[in-house]
Amino acid sequence: MVEEAQVIASSARDIPGLFYHFTATDAQILESTRLELVRIMSLYISGYDAPMAKSGLREAIAALQALDSVYTMFDADSAEAGITRNIHYLQQDTSFDHFNRLTFLADYAIPLQRQLRTFAATQQLELNTAVTLNPAADNLFSADAFSMKAFPGGSNTDTMLVKQGRSLFFNKALSGHNDRSCATCHQPDRYFTDGLERNTALNGGKLPRNTPTLLYSCFQYSQFWDGRVKSLEEQVLAVMHNPDEMNACDDSVLHRLRLDSMGTVTRALAAYIRTLRPFSAAFDTYLQGDKKAMTPLQQHGFNIFMGKAQCGTCHFAPVFNGLTPPLYNRTEFEVLAAPLTENLVKRSADTDLGRYDFFRIDFYKGAFKTPTVRNAAVTGPYLHHGAFHSLEQVVEFYDRGGMHASNQTLAATPLQLSANEKKALVAFMQALTDKPSY
Ligand code: HEC
Ligand code: HEC
Repeated sequence: MVEEAQVIASSARDIPGLFYHFTATDAQILESTRLELVRIMSLYISGYDAPMAKSGLREAIAALQALDSVYTMFDADSAEAGITRNIHYLQQDTSFDHFNRLTFLADYAIPLQRQLRTFAATQQLELNTAVTLNPAADNLFSADAFSMKAFPGGSNTDTMLVKQGRSLFFNKALSGHNDRSCATCHQPDRYFTDGLERNTALNGGKLPRNTPTLLYSCFQYSQFWDGRVKSLEEQVLAVMHNPDEMNACDDSVLHRLRLDSMGTVTRALAAYIRTLRPFSAAFDTYLQGDKKAMTPLQQHGFNIFMGKAQCGTCHFAPVFNGLTPPLYNRTEFEVLAAPLTENLVKRSADTDLGRYDFFRIDFYKGAFKTPTVRNAAVTGPYLHHGAFHSLEQVVEFYDRGGMHASNQTLAATPLQLSANEKKALVAFMQALTDKPSY
């Protein structure tokens, strides 16, 4: 502890040097306060920085007090009043495990986001958000919270291409033997999964990994369970050329489709996949103001997910995947070290090395991308190998602190969830199921 404290103290001494000759514009200062509020809404209330110390709410209060001092300088009375309301709510109930995060977000933090945006507008300060957050969005949970163009290939959203991509998605001419389309495995009525542990490989046996949903896959900086490609465009070619998945030969595909470049195929499919972000779940409806959209058990589940159970420290709000706040400019990988089967008692180790296979540093042994839990209730079986068949079993795995593998990045301390808290977690994930519309 003493050593750690000395490191902190010495880093702190460097801060004035780092700011030598630094000036910030008013717009940049307001921008930073808005990012800090996003950090509070996504990280502090989930205890991200110190899950064991459970100090997240106190950190949130301190951060809001700092924001208050900024808005005092600007004489922004309404913003200050909003900040004070938020602080009071956080101070009312300081027990980390019982804090009502849903009410905090819906009735305090989101209204404050609006106040801060309005203030910046009245000052006519152009917030030039170079990052992923869309400065014009109403709040962090709005469907347009992110600027798609910040993601790899994200400016490719042309509507003609989307139409072409949707039709290509169902076209078996994309596979070597004219017998598989993307929709063979990513079935729209199964929320773009196939309901199987692992699909069949063309050369016999099973594919090494479970078919992930394509919903919200556009909100990632790397694709596949191990993140081996960066953009959806690259991903399309990887699947088509994979001898076990589609085994396609570009020349014959182009000949069949009467197209002259694979670029058209990849851009069209990627543009279509970028439209798969409905944000139409009960949870979304709730945060947009309809308080009847979620049952009390689902609401309780959100509070557990973002608090006691620590799920929100990896499955970050609002997409509940590895897209990391507050800049949302990278996708995280974690080592859960889940066993080979869902049997948590008689267990054997999984041999899939995940990200390590193409990124040979020890830290990545068994690391996988944190997938979204949106629509998890309808996209089982679970995990990269599809070995877990129910959300209850996934929750049980987490409750034990995983398998206590030496390299897991999942906290190994058991969560000590009650039976009702486990039920609530599952109920919350059910509130993340989008309205079927495909
Ligand atoms: C045979 C089944 C199958 C077919 C056909 C298939 N996929 Fe996949 N898809 C998978 C599997 C399995 C993975 C995960 C592989 C991995 O991570 O190693 C995947 C991963 C993806 C991902 C990455 C998602 C993420 O969150 O990482 C995207 C995007 C995708 N597929 C799109 C497509 C498109 C577009 C097509 C058609 C050109 C297609 N897939 C055809 C099985 C299939
Ligand atoms: C340390 C980071 C971390 C924490 C904490 C965490 N998860 Fe995960 N979660 C992941 C990763 C990484 C995966 C994928 C791992 C794999 O496939 O091996 C995953 C997978 C899942 C899946 C399967 C999704 C799918 O499509 O297959 C569900 C459901 C899930 N987590 C729910 C939860 C819940 C509920 C909690 C809290 C009790 C939680 N997670 C806590 C990182 C985390």
